[in-house]
Amino acid sequence: MSPSYICSCNGVSEQEIKRVIAKRQIVELQSLIMFSGAGASCGRCRPKVQSILDANRLAVPNLQTKIKWE
Ligand code: FES
Repeated sequence: MSPSYICSCNGVSEQEIKRVIAKRQIVELQSLIMFSGAGASCGRCRPKVQSILDANRLAVPNLQTKIKWE
């Protein structure tokens, strides 16, 4: 069974996009486009690529930690 492509221009499947998100811990679209190739040509698939990213990115750690001084 052949994979269904999210990005038909560059032949990138949803599975490949998810793999890149997890491997590189990607949190924003431009990085995902750069590393996966999805969305790098006509851009028509970018809304779908963004929704896959939104559903699969890792939680960004809260960098505003409070320091308690004693
Ligand atoms: S369909 Fe993804 S860049 Fe064209």
